[in-house]
Amino acid sequence: MVTVRAPATSANLGSGFDVFGAALGRPADVVRLEKADYTTIDVTGVGSQYIPEDPEKNTVGAVAEALEAPAHIEIDKGVRPASGLGSSAASAAAAAVGLNELYDRGLTREELVPIAAEGEAVVSGAAHADNVAPSIMGGFTIARNDGVTAVDASIPLVTCLPEIVVSTRDARGVIPDGARLEEVVDVVANAATLAVGMTRDDPALVGRGMSDSIITPERAKLIEGYGSVRNAAFEAGATGVTISGAGPAVIAACRETDRRSIASAMVDAFADSDVEARAYQTRIGEGARVFR
Ligand code: HSE
Repeated sequence: MVTVRAPATSANLGSGFDVFGAALGRPADVVRLEKADYTTIDVTGVGSQYIPEDPEKNTVGAVAEALEAPAHIEIDKGVRPASGLGSSAASAAAAAVGLNELYDRGLTREELVPIAAEGEAVVSGAAHADNVAPSIMGGFTIARNDGVTAVDASIPLVTCLPEIVVSTRDARGVIPDGARLEEVVDVVANAATLAVGMTRDDPALVGRGMSDSIITPERAKLIEGYGSVRNAAFEAGATGVTISGAGPAVIAACRETDRRSIASAMVDAFADSDVEARAYQTRIGEGARVFR
């Protein structure tokens, strides 16, 4: 039997739509796997009532099939589904890493990324690697069609999760068909700034690069209170603020000393819009960890 802790993740980081991702120190899914003749799944924890246990419909069932590695799989959800914090990706990442160990498949972490992404596609409808890559590999990741670049980084972060549900399908439905050249230039500049900031562990550069003027403004309309939460986080010292993944979670980069006040400012600002929320004070962290 193996147990795997796979972290929540934040995709996009504003300027890196469908490309950038970061592993979060918390929350995380914990998945226990045991060899079996056929795959069975038990789900407990946050939002487990919304997650199917049928292997045909569950992200980890698809991963087990892809690796030809049947198992009894117990998922303890720490990452709420439909949060923008890579919930299905965390389970898929844990299953891919755990089954690779259990069955001695010998695949590298990078080789496991497309397998977990296919598993995630079972629930999200499309295979994006921008959440599974950081959940498997840790740090800051750049997911391309031909592979993943991972960078160790340790940027302090606050994620604030409101009691709102935004489906990825709806959030993808509001993406504009095109963009003006000036907007594209701006996003390229921001993405490059953010990537350099990650290599330097520099929260100011990372925050500066989190801005996106093409997709985020449209998605922000789906998150009640987003504008005031963003302003409140900046006033409390955030270096950058954007939507986490497809939302509704909001993520702020910051210096360590500002984390606590940013977390309470964001929760209070959601409350001013009559939206309950909880904040995680965290940082970019490690990828899936195996316990024997
Ligand atoms: N990059 C994806 C999006 C993440 O923003 O739609 C959610 O799967």
